[in-house]
Amino acid sequence: MHEQLSTLLTKAAEELQATRTRPELEAAKARYVGPNGEFTAIMKQMGSVAKELRPAMGKLVNESKARLQALLDSRLRAIEDSELSARLGPPIDPTLPSPDPGPGTYHPLTLVREEVCRILRKVGFTVADGPEVETEFYCFDALNTPPDHPARDAQDTFYFPPTTSFDNVTVHRPGERYLLRTHTSSVQVRTMLKGPPPIRIVSPGRVYRRDTTDASHSANFHQIECLYVDRGVTVRDLKALLDYLFEALLGPGTKTRFRPHYFGYTEPSFEVDLSARHLPKVNKEWIEIGGCGIVDPEVFKAVGYDPDVWTGYAFGMGIERLAMTLYGIDDIRLFYQNDLRLLRQFAGGV
Ligand code: DAH
Repeated sequence: MHEQLSTLLTKAAEELQATRTRPELEAAKARYVGPNGEFTAIMKQMGSVAKELRPAMGKLVNESKARLQALLDSRLRAIEDSELSARLGPPIDPTLPSPDPGPGTYHPLTLVREEVCRILRKVGFTVADGPEVETEFYCFDALNTPPDHPARDAQDTFYFPPTTSFDNVTVHRPGERYLLRTHTSSVQVRTMLKGPPPIRIVSPGRVYRRDTTDASHSANFHQIECLYVDRGVTVRDLKALLDYLFEALLGPGTKTRFRPHYFGYTEPSFEVDLSARHLPKVNKEWIEIGGCGIVDPEVFKAVGYDPDVWTGYAFGMGIERLAMTLYGIDDIRLFYQNDLRLLRQFAGGV
Protein backbone atom coordinates (compact mmCIF):
# COMPACT_ATOMS: atom_id res chain seq x y z
CA MET A 1 0.00 0.00 0.00
CA HIS A 2 2.89 2.24 0.80
CA GLU A 3 4.23 1.79 -2.67
CA GLN A 4 0.81 2.11 -4.23
CA LEU A 5 0.35 5.50 -2.56
CA SER A 6 3.70 6.90 -3.58
CA THR A 7 3.24 5.79 -7.23
CA LEU A 8 -0.20 7.35 -7.16
CA LEU A 9 1.14 10.64 -5.83
CA THR A 10 3.87 10.83 -8.47
CA LYS A 11 1.35 10.11 -11.21
CA ALA A 12 -1.13 12.64 -9.78
CA ALA A 13 1.58 15.30 -9.58
CA GLU A 14 2.42 14.83 -13.28
CA GLU A 15 -1.16 14.71 -14.41
CA LEU A 16 -2.22 17.75 -12.42
CA GLN A 17 0.77 19.67 -13.65
CA ALA A 18 -0.47 19.09 -17.19
CA THR A 19 -3.94 20.58 -16.55
CA ARG A 20 -4.50 24.03 -18.06
CA THR A 21 -8.12 24.81 -17.36
CA ARG A 22 -10.61 24.39 -14.54
CA PRO A 23 -12.58 21.62 -16.29
CA GLU A 24 -9.33 19.70 -16.88
CA LEU A 25 -8.43 20.12 -13.22
CA GLU A 26 -11.89 19.06 -12.09
CA ALA A 27 -11.70 15.93 -14.28
CA ALA A 28 -8.27 15.03 -12.89
CA LYS A 29 -9.48 15.65 -9.35
CA ALA A 30 -12.42 13.29 -9.94
CA ARG A 31 -10.02 10.59 -11.21
CA TYR A 32 -8.24 10.62 -7.84
CA VAL A 33 -10.58 11.72 -5.09
CA GLY A 34 -13.99 11.33 -6.74
CA PRO A 35 -16.30 8.46 -5.66
CA ASN A 36 -14.65 6.18 -8.20
CA GLY A 37 -11.23 7.78 -7.90
CA GLU A 38 -7.97 5.92 -7.52
CA PHE A 39 -7.19 7.45 -4.16
CA THR A 40 -10.69 6.74 -2.96
CA ALA A 41 -10.17 3.13 -3.97
CA ILE A 42 -7.03 2.88 -1.83
CA MET A 43 -8.85 4.43 1.12
CA LYS A 44 -11.49 1.80 0.74
CA GLN A 45 -8.83 -0.88 1.19
CA MET A 46 -8.18 0.39 4.73
CA GLY A 47 -10.96 -1.84 6.01
CA SER A 48 -9.03 -4.94 5.06
CA VAL A 49 -5.75 -3.84 6.63
CA ALA A 50 -4.64 -5.81 9.67
CA LYS A 51 -5.57 -4.12 12.92
CA GLU A 52 -2.01 -3.61 14.19
CA LEU A 53 -0.97 -1.97 10.92
CA ARG A 54 -3.92 0.35 10.79
CA PRO A 55 -2.54 3.34 12.82
CA ALA A 56 0.60 3.52 10.70
CA MET A 57 -1.32 3.01 7.49
CA GLY A 58 -3.94 5.56 8.57
CA LYS A 59 -1.21 8.11 9.14
CA LEU A 60 0.30 7.39 5.74
CA VAL A 61 -3.03 7.69 3.98
CA ASN A 62 -3.78 10.99 5.74
CA GLU A 63 -0.39 12.39 4.81
CA SER A 64 -0.86 11.32 1.21
CA LYS A 65 -4.31 12.85 1.14
CA ALA A 66 -2.91 16.14 2.46
CA ARG A 67 -0.20 16.15 -0.20
CA LEU A 68 -2.73 15.39 -2.91
CA GLN A 69 -4.91 18.24 -1.63
CA ALA A 70 -1.91 20.57 -1.63
CA LEU A 71 -1.19 19.61 -5.25
CA LEU A 72 -4.81 20.31 -6.20
CA ASP A 73 -4.77 23.67 -4.40
CA SER A 74 -1.54 24.87 -5.94
CA ARG A 75 -2.72 23.84 -9.41
CA LEU A 76 -5.98 25.74 -8.90
CA ARG A 77 -4.05 28.86 -7.91
CA ALA A 78 -1.83 28.53 -10.99
CA ILE A 79 -4.89 28.21 -13.23
CA GLU A 80 -6.52 31.24 -11.54
CA ASP A 81 -3.35 33.25 -12.09
CA SER A 82 -3.22 32.39 -15.77
CA GLU A 83 -6.91 33.24 -16.16
CA LEU A 84 -6.25 36.65 -14.59
CA SER A 85 -3.26 37.43 -16.78
CA ALA A 86 -5.26 36.36 -19.84
CA ARG A 87 -7.86 38.94 -18.84
CA LEU A 88 -5.22 41.61 -18.18
CA GLY A 89 -3.61 41.09 -21.57
CA PRO A 90 0.07 41.20 -22.39
CA PRO A 91 2.37 42.53 -19.69
CA ILE A 92 3.19 46.22 -19.82
CA ASP A 93 6.71 47.55 -20.01
CA PRO A 94 6.55 50.79 -18.01
CA THR A 95 9.89 51.89 -19.41
CA LEU A 96 8.53 52.18 -22.96
CA PRO A 97 7.69 55.71 -24.16
CA SER A 98 3.93 56.36 -24.21
CA PRO A 99 2.18 56.48 -27.58
CA ASP A 100 2.37 60.02 -28.91
CA PRO A 101 -1.12 61.60 -28.72
CA GLY A 102 0.02 64.26 -31.18
CA PRO A 103 0.19 67.98 -30.47
CA GLY A 104 -2.91 69.42 -28.81
CA THR A 105 -4.71 72.39 -30.27
CA TYR A 106 -5.84 75.60 -28.65
CA HIS A 107 -9.52 76.21 -28.20
CA PRO A 108 -10.74 78.94 -30.58
CA LEU A 109 -11.72 81.13 -27.61
CA THR A 110 -8.21 80.77 -26.20
CA LEU A 111 -6.72 81.68 -29.57
CA VAL A 112 -8.77 84.86 -29.83
CA ARG A 113 -8.12 85.81 -26.20
CA GLU A 114 -4.37 85.34 -26.58
CA GLU A 115 -4.27 87.19 -29.88
CA VAL A 116 -6.14 90.21 -28.47
CA CYS A 117 -3.79 90.28 -25.46
CA ARG A 118 -0.77 89.99 -27.75
CA ILE A 119 -1.96 92.89 -29.93
CA LEU A 120 -2.63 95.07 -26.91
CA ARG A 121 0.65 94.18 -25.17
CA LYS A 122 2.40 95.63 -28.20
CA VAL A 123 1.00 99.04 -27.33
CA GLY A 124 1.79 98.90 -23.64
CA PHE A 125 -1.12 97.07 -22.02
CA THR A 126 -0.50 94.46 -19.35
CA VAL A 127 -2.83 91.59 -18.55
CA ALA A 128 -4.80 91.90 -15.29
CA ASP A 129 -6.86 89.21 -13.63
CA GLY A 130 -9.88 89.34 -11.36
CA PRO A 131 -12.12 86.81 -9.60
CA GLU A 132 -15.34 85.45 -11.02
CA VAL A 133 -17.04 85.76 -7.63
CA GLU A 134 -17.59 89.40 -6.83
CA THR A 135 -19.61 91.66 -4.59
CA GLU A 136 -22.10 94.25 -5.72
CA PHE A 137 -19.47 96.86 -4.92
CA TYR A 138 -16.97 95.76 -7.60
CA CYS A 139 -19.53 94.70 -10.16
CA PHE A 140 -22.01 97.58 -9.83
CA ASP A 141 -21.62 100.23 -7.11
CA ALA A 142 -18.08 101.39 -7.83
CA LEU A 143 -19.02 101.43 -11.51
CA ASN A 144 -21.69 104.02 -10.81
CA THR A 145 -24.55 101.62 -11.45
CA PRO A 146 -27.68 102.85 -9.65
CA PRO A 147 -29.29 100.54 -7.06
CA ASP A 148 -32.34 100.01 -9.25
CA HIS A 149 -30.45 99.30 -12.48
CA PRO A 150 -31.94 96.32 -14.34
CA ALA A 151 -28.51 94.61 -14.64
CA ARG A 152 -28.62 94.05 -10.88
CA ASP A 153 -31.93 92.30 -11.10
CA ALA A 154 -31.93 88.70 -9.90
CA GLN A 155 -33.43 87.90 -13.30
CA ASP A 156 -30.11 88.86 -14.88
CA THR A 157 -27.48 88.22 -12.23
CA PHE A 158 -26.60 85.04 -10.33
CA TYR A 159 -26.47 85.87 -6.60
CA PHE A 160 -25.11 83.60 -3.91
CA PRO A 161 -27.29 82.82 -0.88
CA PRO A 162 -26.88 85.47 1.86
CA THR A 163 -25.06 83.04 4.16
CA THR A 164 -22.21 82.41 1.68
CA SER A 165 -18.83 83.93 2.38
CA PHE A 166 -15.67 84.14 0.30
CA ASP A 167 -12.33 85.33 1.51
CA ASN A 168 -10.96 86.49 -1.83
CA VAL A 169 -13.22 89.53 -1.84
CA THR A 170 -11.58 92.13 0.35
CA VAL A 171 -14.19 94.86 0.31
CA HIS A 172 -17.33 93.36 1.74
CA ARG A 173 -19.89 95.51 3.47
CA PRO A 174 -22.28 93.94 5.99
CA GLY A 175 -25.21 92.34 4.24
CA GLU A 176 -23.72 92.85 0.78
CA ARG A 177 -24.49 90.04 -1.61
CA TYR A 178 -21.90 87.97 -3.44
CA LEU A 179 -22.54 87.32 -7.10
CA LEU A 180 -20.98 85.86 -10.23
CA ARG A 181 -19.61 88.82 -12.16
CA THR A 182 -21.83 89.84 -15.06
CA HIS A 183 -18.96 91.58 -16.85
CA THR A 184 -15.20 91.98 -16.62
CA SER A 185 -15.63 95.70 -15.85
CA SER A 186 -15.22 94.74 -12.16
CA VAL A 187 -11.49 94.31 -12.89
CA GLN A 188 -11.30 98.03 -13.69
CA VAL A 189 -12.26 98.74 -10.08
CA ARG A 190 -9.91 96.13 -8.65
CA THR A 191 -6.98 97.45 -10.68
CA MET A 192 -7.56 101.08 -9.79
CA LEU A 193 -7.88 100.25 -6.09
CA LYS A 194 -4.46 98.59 -6.21
CA GLY A 195 -2.48 101.69 -7.11
CA PRO A 196 -2.30 105.10 -8.75
CA PRO A 197 -2.43 105.88 -12.51
CA PRO A 198 -1.19 105.62 -15.16
CA ILE A 199 -2.97 102.35 -15.84
CA ARG A 200 -3.12 100.38 -19.04
CA ILE A 201 -4.66 96.94 -18.56
CA VAL A 202 -6.42 94.27 -20.58
CA SER A 203 -8.41 91.72 -18.64
CA PRO A 204 -9.93 88.65 -20.26
CA GLY A 205 -12.20 86.36 -18.28
CA ARG A 206 -15.38 84.44 -17.78
CA VAL A 207 -18.65 86.18 -16.97
CA TYR A 208 -22.12 84.95 -16.03
CA ARG A 209 -25.65 86.04 -16.85
CA ARG A 210 -29.02 84.47 -16.38
CA ASP A 211 -29.56 84.06 -20.08
CA THR A 212 -31.42 81.19 -21.63
CA THR A 213 -29.04 79.33 -23.89
CA ASP A 214 -29.64 79.59 -27.63
CA ALA A 215 -27.51 80.05 -30.74
CA SER A 216 -26.28 83.45 -29.58
CA HIS A 217 -26.66 83.35 -25.76
CA SER A 218 -24.98 81.36 -23.04
CA ALA A 219 -25.27 81.72 -19.25
CA ASN A 220 -21.53 81.92 -19.09
CA PHE A 221 -19.32 83.42 -21.72
CA HIS A 222 -16.11 85.42 -21.96
CA GLN A 223 -15.22 89.06 -22.21
CA ILE A 224 -12.16 91.20 -22.63
CA GLU A 225 -11.97 94.45 -20.75
CA CYS A 226 -9.59 97.33 -21.34
CA LEU A 227 -8.84 100.29 -19.17
CA TYR A 228 -6.48 103.16 -19.82
CA VAL A 229 -6.09 105.94 -17.25
CA ASP A 230 -3.71 108.83 -17.75
CA ARG A 231 -3.76 112.59 -18.20
CA GLY A 232 -5.60 114.03 -21.18
CA VAL A 233 -7.16 110.83 -22.56
CA THR A 234 -9.80 111.48 -25.23
CA VAL A 235 -12.33 109.65 -27.40
CA ARG A 236 -9.81 109.92 -30.23
CA ASP A 237 -7.36 107.76 -28.28
CA LEU A 238 -10.11 105.25 -27.68
CA LYS A 239 -11.19 105.14 -31.32
CA ALA A 240 -7.58 104.87 -32.50
CA LEU A 241 -6.94 101.94 -30.18
CA LEU A 242 -10.05 100.09 -31.32
CA ASP A 243 -9.25 100.74 -35.00
CA TYR A 244 -5.75 99.35 -34.41
CA LEU A 245 -6.97 96.35 -32.42
CA PHE A 246 -9.67 95.20 -34.81
CA GLU A 247 -7.62 95.72 -37.91
CA ALA A 248 -4.72 93.76 -36.38
CA LEU A 249 -7.08 90.99 -35.31
CA LEU A 250 -9.43 90.72 -38.28
CA GLY A 251 -7.23 91.97 -41.07
CA PRO A 252 -6.88 94.99 -43.36
CA GLY A 253 -10.16 96.52 -44.41
CA THR A 254 -11.74 96.12 -40.97
CA LYS A 255 -13.59 99.26 -39.87
CA THR A 256 -15.06 100.33 -36.54
CA ARG A 257 -17.77 102.81 -35.67
CA PHE A 258 -19.24 104.21 -32.49
CA ARG A 259 -22.92 104.61 -31.74
CA PRO A 260 -23.97 106.72 -28.74
CA HIS A 261 -25.17 104.61 -25.85
CA TYR A 262 -25.47 104.70 -22.07
CA PHE A 263 -23.25 102.95 -19.51
CA GLY A 264 -23.09 104.19 -15.91
CA TYR A 265 -19.30 103.94 -15.80
CA THR A 266 -18.51 105.95 -18.93
CA GLU A 267 -19.54 109.38 -20.20
CA PRO A 268 -19.81 109.70 -23.13
CA SER A 269 -20.56 106.05 -23.83
CA PHE A 270 -20.72 104.19 -27.13
CA GLU A 271 -21.53 100.87 -28.57
CA VAL A 272 -18.82 99.64 -30.91
CA ASP A 273 -19.66 98.04 -34.23
CA LEU A 274 -17.18 96.54 -36.61
CA SER A 275 -17.33 95.94 -40.30
CA ALA A 276 -15.30 93.08 -41.77
CA ARG A 277 -16.94 92.12 -45.04
CA HIS A 278 -13.73 90.44 -46.21
CA LEU A 279 -14.22 87.61 -43.71
CA PRO A 280 -16.01 84.54 -45.00
CA LYS A 281 -19.58 84.15 -43.76
CA VAL A 282 -19.87 87.78 -42.63
CA ASN A 283 -23.15 88.73 -44.24
CA LYS A 284 -23.96 92.07 -42.71
CA GLU A 285 -22.19 95.39 -42.77
CA TRP A 286 -22.02 96.22 -39.06
CA ILE A 287 -21.61 93.77 -36.21
CA GLU A 288 -22.06 94.98 -32.65
CA ILE A 289 -19.01 93.91 -30.72
CA GLY A 290 -18.84 95.76 -27.40
CA GLY A 291 -19.25 98.89 -25.35
CA CYS A 292 -16.85 101.67 -24.50
CA GLY A 293 -16.49 105.25 -23.40
CA ILE A 294 -14.62 107.80 -21.37
CA VAL A 295 -14.38 106.79 -17.72
CA ASP A 296 -17.06 108.56 -15.69
CA PRO A 297 -15.69 110.85 -12.93
CA GLU A 298 -17.93 109.00 -10.45
CA VAL A 299 -15.88 105.84 -11.02
CA PHE A 300 -12.66 107.72 -10.27
CA LYS A 301 -14.20 109.06 -7.08
CA ALA A 302 -15.21 105.55 -6.01
CA VAL A 303 -11.60 104.35 -6.25
CA GLY A 304 -10.03 107.48 -4.80
CA TYR A 305 -8.62 109.00 -8.01
CA ASP A 306 -8.94 112.75 -8.49
CA PRO A 307 -11.30 113.21 -11.48
CA ASP A 308 -9.90 116.68 -12.12
CA VAL A 309 -6.46 115.20 -12.78
CA TRP A 310 -7.16 111.84 -14.35
CA THR A 311 -8.97 110.83 -17.48
CA GLY A 312 -9.37 107.47 -19.11
CA TYR A 313 -11.15 105.24 -21.52
CA ALA A 314 -12.59 101.78 -21.04
CA PHE A 315 -14.10 99.17 -23.28
CA GLY A 316 -15.39 95.67 -23.05
CA MET A 317 -16.38 93.07 -25.59
CA GLY A 318 -17.43 89.44 -25.88
CA ILE A 319 -14.78 86.94 -26.96
CA GLU A 320 -17.36 84.52 -28.34
CA ARG A 321 -18.83 87.14 -30.66
CA LEU A 322 -15.35 88.00 -31.92
CA ALA A 323 -14.44 84.35 -32.49
CA MET A 324 -17.74 83.73 -34.28
CA THR A 325 -17.06 86.66 -36.59
CA LEU A 326 -13.47 85.70 -37.20
CA TYR A 327 -14.05 82.01 -37.84
CA GLY A 328 -17.55 82.08 -39.32
CA ILE A 329 -19.09 80.05 -36.47
CA ASP A 330 -22.83 80.58 -36.27
CA ASP A 331 -23.77 78.92 -32.97
CA ILE A 332 -22.22 79.89 -29.62
CA ARG A 333 -23.00 76.46 -28.17
CA LEU A 334 -20.37 74.90 -30.44
CA PHE A 335 -17.66 76.48 -28.28
CA TYR A 336 -18.65 74.51 -25.22
CA GLN A 337 -19.35 71.06 -26.66
CA ASN A 338 -15.73 69.95 -27.00
CA ASP A 339 -16.41 68.29 -30.33
CA LEU A 340 -13.00 67.46 -31.73
CA ARG A 341 -14.29 67.80 -35.28
CA LEU A 342 -14.71 71.52 -34.57
CA LEU A 343 -11.68 72.00 -32.32
CA ARG A 344 -9.19 70.28 -34.64
CA GLN A 345 -9.91 72.91 -37.27
CA PHE A 346 -8.05 75.41 -35.12
CA ALA A 347 -4.77 73.51 -35.01
CA GLY A 348 -3.05 76.18 -37.06
CA GLY A 349 -3.72 79.11 -34.72
CA VAL A 350 -5.35 82.46 -35.54
N1 DAH B 1 -19.58 95.93 -19.33
C1 DAH B 1 -20.28 96.12 -20.58
C2 DAH B 1 -21.08 94.87 -20.91
O1 DAH B 1 -20.84 93.84 -20.33
C3 DAH B 1 -19.32 96.40 -21.69
C4 DAH B 1 -18.61 97.71 -21.48
C5 DAH B 1 -19.22 98.89 -21.85
C6 DAH B 1 -17.37 97.73 -20.89
C7 DAH B 1 -18.58 100.10 -21.66
C8 DAH B 1 -16.70 98.94 -20.71
C9 DAH B 1 -17.34 100.13 -21.10
O2 DAH B 1 -15.50 99.01 -20.16
O3 DAH B 1 -16.68 101.30 -20.91
O4 DAH B 1 -21.95 94.93 -21.71
